[in-house]
Amino acid sequence: MERTFAIIKPDAVADGNAGNILALIEKNGFKVLALRKQHLTRPIAEGFYAVHKGKGFFEELIAFMTEGPVILLALEREDAVAKWREVMGATNPEKAEAGTVRKLYGANIGRNASHGSDSQENAAIELAWFFRGYELN
Ligand code: TYD
Repeated sequence: MERTFAIIKPDAVADGNAGNILALIEKNGFKVLALRKQHLTRPIAEGFYAVHKGKGFFEELIAFMTEGPVILLALEREDAVAKWREVMGATNPEKAEAGTVRKLYGANIGRNASHGSDSQENAAIELAWFFRGYELN
């Protein structure tokens, strides 16, 4: 079993698509280990996306991620990191496969409905940023 970290981003929560995305998560065989709705503050969002600091889209990304509540998720299944990236689809919804979260619910490369860790190493770092060990059962 492998774990990954996911976010249902502010656009999807505000548009009422969180339930549909959770249904897709369960349909794809993920176990929801932990789930929390939270309105991210700027320091929390900046820390989470620190790897993108200095890039042209950073300010826009932080403004977006702090504009309303998100849903934070710890997910588990076989090959969880790669499988969740597959279910989410490409970063740019225009390039995402039909039926993926980003194709269904994303508007553009910035407002793209969901996040997923890109490696097992980053999944562990991101899970630890948002969840306590005792929550991941
Ligand atoms: P990135 O880690 O490249 O993509 P992913 O979320 O698919 O792992 O980028 C993180 C987020 O930054 C991405 O989900 C949306 C935002 N972003 C932009 O707004 N513009 C861009 O050109 C890129 C590459 C990302």
